[in-house]
Amino acid sequence: MALQRQKFAAESRVITTEIVMPNDTNPLHNLMGGHLLHLMDVAAAISARKHSNRVVVTASVDNVSFEHPVKLGSIITLEAQITRSFNSSMEIFVVATGEDFMSGKQLITNKAFLTFVAVDQAGNPIAVPAVVPQTPVEKELYESALRRRQLRLVLAGRMKPEEATELRSIFFKD
Ligand SMILES: CC(C)(COP(=O)(O)OP(=O)(O)OC[C@H]1O[C@@H](n2cnc3c(N)ncnc32)[C@H](O)[C@@H]1OP(=O)(O)O)[C@@H](O)C(=O)NCCC(=O)NCCS
Repeated sequence: MALQRQKFAAESRVITTEIVMPNDTNPLHNLMGGHLLHLMDVAAAISARKHSNRVVVTASVDNVSFEHPVKLGSIITLEAQITRSFNSSMEIFVVATGEDFMSGKQLITNKAFLTFVAVDQAGNPIAVPAVVPQTPVEKELYESALRRRQLRLVLAGRMKPEEATELRSIFFKD
């Protein structure tokens, strides 16, 4: 099947819901960070697959802060959507929200940007459709994705700092 040249960001939207079970918790009966990262990785991978219709692999996970503990029995919702694609890579934004099952109170526990690369059956990167952002939030995430890409590639040793032109414009006035 021919590759679509572009797709709306919203077409990649994924919402998954889980309940925090005893096996997923630490001795304080709160959700373990590693389990939450797993849930975020899976939701983001599904989003990347929906955008690319290809096999995808996780290339990187940007820094993740755990802002609130999520108690045993809570409901955790993960929302994932593509922000921007480049050639073979896709940046996916994931928001995790915990909901206390007794009070119904909801708190955003994590936000993270993950990068996936679409690959062929031999594991070689292949091109993916461009992203068309529509809403103001999607447009802001699309524009800022270039800065985040350059920062993560510099940190991964895959881009020379002097080539990171978008970052230079933040730190230096040429
Ligand atoms: C990710 C991977 C496919 C990249 O392969 P590669 O041969 O290095 O390919 P390239 O250098 O051509 O890079 C391909 C794309 O990956 C991106 N990429 C590579 N490393 C990256 C990183 N650390 N962070 C973000 N993007 C990265 C490149 O920017 C490039 O994006 P673009 O095509 O949109 O410009 C390869 O490193 C890999 O298979 N890694 C293991 C993935 C894995 O096992 N994940 C966990 C299980 S799913």
